[in-house]
Amino acid sequence: MLLHVPQVLTMDELARARIWLDEADWADGRMTAGSQAGRVKNNLQLPENAPAARRLRELMLDALGRSALFFAAALPRKIYPPLFNCYTGATNSFGNHVDNAVRTHAASGNHVRTDLSFTLFLAEPDEYAGGELVMEHGFGTEAVKLPAGDLVLYPSSSVHRVEPVTRGARLACFSWLESMVRESERRRLLFDMDQAIAALRAQAGESAEAVAFTSCYHNLLRMWAHS
Ligand code: NI
Repeated sequence: MLLHVPQVLTMDELARARIWLDEADWADGRMTAGSQAGRVKNNLQLPENAPAARRLRELMLDALGRSALFFAAALPRKIYPPLFNCYTGATNSFGNHVDNAVRTHAASGNHVRTDLSFTLFLAEPDEYAGGELVMEHGFGTEAVKLPAGDLVLYPSSSVHRVEPVTRGARLACFSWLESMVRESERRRLLFDMDQAIAALRAQAGESAEAVAFTSCYHNLLRMWAHS
């Protein structure tokens, strides 16, 4: 499942993020790539210990924590500290690859199994040409290029790439997460149920049926969640 989560950042947060990104010192993006991905990765990335990266990570984690849609779809157990990249000039693409199954955070030694990957766009689509995130799934490919502040959530198991940026600069935040519900089919079922319950509640207010479905949702989650 590929999910578009709109307006994860407020306009104010986006403006602040852009100022910090403008002032940041970028480095070679291959620093966090595995051996296959490293061969096709050609972009810039903020070093994890850069002061700007620390402020940006905090801002992103706050914003993700507020997003009910992100939570409902991902059911995050652990989020790898978000990273920031830039595609521009001669460092402008990332060929087909699969994200590493387990990311180990060097500073903390924590392991995160990558169930889901996300990209939060930090430049508006008209600021750059190309730069689509292209995902290959069983039924073809899907290209994603979202407004600044919006996020796309997708299975880490998918083969994906970032198309060459031929004008301007594509700025983004990206990371991976381990879900409380490892199996994507179960996660999908819980998400569909969560959304249906929210719609039912919006239409008919609190009702015995809404309570009954909410109870089923939580009992399923209790059965499937690993915390
Ligand atoms: Ni990737």
